[in-house]
Formats: sequence, C-alpha cells, structure tokens
Amino acid sequence: MIALRPGIDIAYDDVGTGLPVVFLHGFPHNRTLWAPQLGALMTRARCIAPDLRGFGESEISGPYSMARYADDVIAMLDALQIERAVIAGLSMGGYVAFEIWRRYRERVRALILADTRSGADTEASKEKRREMITLARAKGSGAVADAQITGMVGRTTRERHPDIADAIHRMLTVAPVEGVVGALQAMIDRPDSTPMLATIDVPTLIIVGEEDVLTPPQEARAMQERIAGSRLEVLECAGHVSNVERPAAFTHVASEFLGVLTYA
Ligand code: MLT
Repeated sequence: MIALRPGIDIAYDDVGTGLPVVFLHGFPHNRTLWAPQLGALMTRARCIAPDLRGFGESEISGPYSMARYADDVIAMLDALQIERAVIAGLSMGGYVAFEIWRRYRERVRALILADTRSGADTEASKEKRREMITLARAKGSGAVADAQITGMVGRTTRERHPDIADAIHRMLTVAPVEGVVGALQAMIDRPDSTPMLATIDVPTLIIVGEEDVLTPPQEARAMQERIAGSRLEVLECAGHVSNVERPAAFTHVASEFLGVLTYA
C-alpha cells in the first residue's frame, strides 16, 4: 500500500528489477488480472500493478475520472522515484494509458495497448453504461458480473476453459459498487483519444484477442494504422481478457517487445 498525494491509499504489486512497466487493469477488474504477466516477466522487468482507485484493495474515494486515475499512476511513479515507465493497459487500463499520454507523455517510455479502443463512447454505449450504473446500485456487483461475463471472455475460453471464465467472474463480483459506478461514469465522460494517436512517438505494442467482442480486432487495427511504427498482435482463441485467456502467448509478445526496449 502506498499513500499518494493528495491523500489516497493505492495498493500495488512491485516485483522484479529492470525496466519499469506499469500494468493497468480494466473494468471492473483489479491488479490480480496481471498475475500471469507479473510472474513471468519479473525476471526481466520491474513489474508494477496498482489497483485503480475504487478497485481491489485501493481506497474507495471519488470523484472518478480518467484524469484522476492517470494522476494516481503518476503520483505512484513519483513516490517510487521512477522517471519513465512502460505503460501497459488493458481495456479501461488502455483508456487510462491514453490519458497518461495526453497529460504526462514525458513519463512514458513505451505503450502496450491491450484489448482497448481509442474512441469515446457512442450515445448508445453511454446509455448502456447508465443502465449498468442503475443495475450496480440496485443489485450490486454480482449482477454487473453476470451481465459482463459473456462479453468479457472469448467463446473458446468459455467452451474449453470454464475455470478461467469462473475466475474472471469472481473478480468482477468482488468489485466495490462505488468503484464500479465511478468507473462507468469515468468511461462515459472520457474524451476521444483517436486524434491523439498520431502524436504517439514511443514504441507501441497493440495486442487483441481474436474473439474480443467488446473491443474487437478492427479497433486494434484502426489504432495500429494511426500510431506510426506500432506493432499489432492478434491472439487466436482469446477474447477480451487476452492476457488471462492466453497468458503464455500474451507474455511472449510482451516479453519480446520489452527485450527490444531494454537493449535499445
Ligand atoms: C474493460 O474491460 O475495461 C471494459 O470492457 C471497457 C469498456 O467497457 O469500455
């Protein structure tokens, strides 16, 4: 646990040594999402995974916005005396990564954008999120987990690895309602980062599960076309939480990418 200015306690894992890499979880996850990558990459990088405010063991303290999540990550880096880090974000974690680029690009050594999109919400998706806020307040995080799980995990994983789907479902179920509602509002309010993609001039790896229905491969391809020199990896038989559904494949491409950075 780390106490950040101006007064919020953020829980995080910090393992390994070398190039600092910050792993940002999606919605409504927590830092344990990244356990496979931390376990595998700690021999070659300093892997830091925070719980975003309102999730996991971090303080439940609003208001919530992409800007505040980004400020928290940078305050954490300040407290750890890390000048620049690779920022890896999955889905909502990617939205936070874009906000970090918007506000603090000098702190970004490279980007890993996994199962995410640069665009803002459409009116229809804002409306769905408002319905989800109502559901969370009325019936709690278990109901949100039930509503999210089918889209969250790919078809192959649901059929062949129901244990993985169950573990993700459990993670969604324990998310604090206030954090869930805050994150939904933050996603509704987030800006369109698409015009900013052309400004990204650090090495960028984009990863997407072939069966991701929430942020499908065409979103990833559209980002790759706009980020000069970026690399795209599409993972077969994986859905939206591709790092958990195909952990070895995800870690392999991330490791290759980090290896090039380490020796560049
Ligand atoms: C996530 O996994 O973070 C969410 O699916 C993102 C979203 O709902 O846009």
